[in-house]
Amino acid sequence: MHSADAAPTTHDADDDPRNRDIRIYVNGEIVHRDEAKVSVYDSGFLLGDGMWEGMRLHDGHWAFFDDHMDRFFDSCKAVSLEVGMDRAGILDALTRTAEANGMVTDVHCRLMLTRGIKSKPFQHPALSRSGPTLVIILEHSRPVATLQAKGIRLATVPQVRGLPTSQDPKFNSHSKLNCVIACLQAEQAGADEGLMLDPLGFVNTTNACNFFIVRRGEVWTSTGDYCMNGVTRAKVIQLCRDNGIPVFEKNFSLYEAYGADEAFLTGTFGAQTPVASIDGKPVDDRARPVTERIRALYKDLIARDIAAQAGR
Ligand SMILES: Cc1ncc(COP(=O)(O)O)c(C=O)c1O
Repeated sequence: MHSADAAPTTHDADDDPRNRDIRIYVNGEIVHRDEAKVSVYDSGFLLGDGMWEGMRLHDGHWAFFDDHMDRFFDSCKAVSLEVGMDRAGILDALTRTAEANGMVTDVHCRLMLTRGIKSKPFQHPALSRSGPTLVIILEHSRPVATLQAKGIRLATVPQVRGLPTSQDPKFNSHSKLNCVIACLQAEQAGADEGLMLDPLGFVNTTNACNFFIVRRGEVWTSTGDYCMNGVTRAKVIQLCRDNGIPVFEKNFSLYEAYGADEAFLTGTFGAQTPVASIDGKPVDDRARPVTERIRALYKDLIARDIAAQAGR
């Protein structure tokens, strides 16, 4: 995790010494983290040519597993990346890795699939001839309490979200350079995370999470055209619809974001993380009733999803 005096990130977890000895899945083998290695000829390392998913384990089940697999398999299909197994095979690999680590709950997963080892250090996909590389890292992970208490400081950054015709921002690809540049720009502006605009200048998303504002009891988020199709984002929108909270996917500008009553980020790791400020302007720091309500609804939704999986 981040050192205590470093700026927070949206993915800060409590330090857990057990993570020093975790076992990692690499192409069917489950080995100590010090032994977990991927070739320097791997397409993921050479080119960022791969797809990944972040998921969380609750009471032995992966929350919203089917939603994550829908996105993962769609992404792989879109870039002709053969997964080499079906979702039952992925679940089996996840289960074996969790069992090898004795993990049951408060676990974060990074499931990564690349186009595999290349015969030469060049770009053409046909140079990847030995099949994909599948790696599963599971870590003991509880988001630090300060994320909820202090919230995240956002800075609007010059880096924008791309058009689907360049690199579709819906790809959860290994290459996250666009997001990394945005994060660096935010850090250089003294903030924790970058608020990214779309090519027309409407507020879109952050470099690692989806972005919501609350104005006069209404929940607003971007149209979804230029952001990651976040599983948590979709769940929050659905929860609002199911519980009579007005929710809108729409274009809005910084004008409305600066004037929001509440703002929060969504992502698998932190669920809903409050925003403390945008470009140095505080987001109303009184109680966050709508964010808190959505957070409670989301917690309940996870519990129901896990119970349904347990009953299968
Ligand atoms: C750029 C970006 N936005 C949003 C998200 C959140 O997506 P999810 O809610 O599926 O975790 C992610 C997660 O990987 C991301 O990389």
